[in-house]
Amino acid sequence: MKVTAIAPSNIAFIKYWGKKDEKLRLPTNGSISMNLSNLFTTTTVEFNESFKQDEALINKGKNTEAKNRVINHIDIIRKMARISTHVKIVSKNNFPIGTGLSSSASGFAALTVAATKAAGLNLSEKELTIVARQGSGSACRSIPDGFVEWVEGDTSDTSYAVSLFPDNYWNLIDVVALVSQEKKDISSTEGQRKVASSPFFKERLNHIDRKIKLCQQFLKTKNFSALGQLVENEALEMHAIMMTSSPPLLYWLPSTLFLMKMVKKWRAAGLEVYFTINTGQDVHLIIEEKNRSELITLLKKEPIVKKIIINQPAQGAQIVKNHLF
Ligand code: PMV
Repeated sequence: MKVTAIAPSNIAFIKYWGKKDEKLRLPTNGSISMNLSNLFTTTTVEFNESFKQDEALINKGKNTEAKNRVINHIDIIRKMARISTHVKIVSKNNFPIGTGLSSSASGFAALTVAATKAAGLNLSEKELTIVARQGSGSACRSIPDGFVEWVEGDTSDTSYAVSLFPDNYWNLIDVVALVSQEKKDISSTEGQRKVASSPFFKERLNHIDRKIKLCQQFLKTKNFSALGQLVENEALEMHAIMMTSSPPLLYWLPSTLFLMKMVKKWRAAGLEVYFTINTGQDVHLIIEEKNRSELITLLKKEPIVKKIIINQPAQGAQIVKNHLF
């Protein structure tokens, strides 16, 4: 059977950074994110007895590491479906990969939804998030709609994602300002292994549950100022841990820092905008819909901003009819 799915990337307001079980990808803390309408992966999967080998074409490239990770995920699904049939996968993103725009989130969410269905499984949304999590942690948050919480959990079955609010709940805008196409030198998977070497990591775990509760509350009350401050503080906290890990992880470029300083300036001048950053140099700017065009005008004046991608909250992963092969 051939199935195609489309899934959004997501931006974490409260970040996932650290695993307590490497293989199962159980996180050291819960996280909360928003799905992004303009950063997505489309993936077609077919299991067919006539295939002589597994084939995976990811963004038209022959990246063996990416292919191996995808086939490992397919093996989990084949085991669940009790099949050994070979697979063909074609996957494409509408945005650059490996620069910190969370392509593994949209990628493994789309792969999970398409491959489980193509293997004959009919999983619930919760079950899909549990499978996606094992491919890439943040992928579990790209399955439910809108604003999503990944519940930490202690076992594979209790570490899943759930929608807190649908995509049409609050028209928050995430403007991604791309400052370079440079690929990050250390992947999230590799970087996360170093987390416990930061002296600040223990402190983070002491207060992270409080931050999760605050994030839920600010979303519930649509308190943009409080949410923005929390999100910005959270990004800085995660990067402080990265920078103080050994060896240190430094994902920012001078242009990243320049934009962070501009955000502060714009805010002082009355434009309410906040930033967050993942494992890369590009900056996500969170703003209310009413102020979006003012921000875009300002960004267009900055030569260091190479490209702008405007996102609204999006639905989670969906099955679609148009196959890629
Ligand atoms: O799912 P991974 O292994 O790509 O890790 C994602 C880590 C961050 O993007 C930095 C944070 C997050 O919660 O998305």
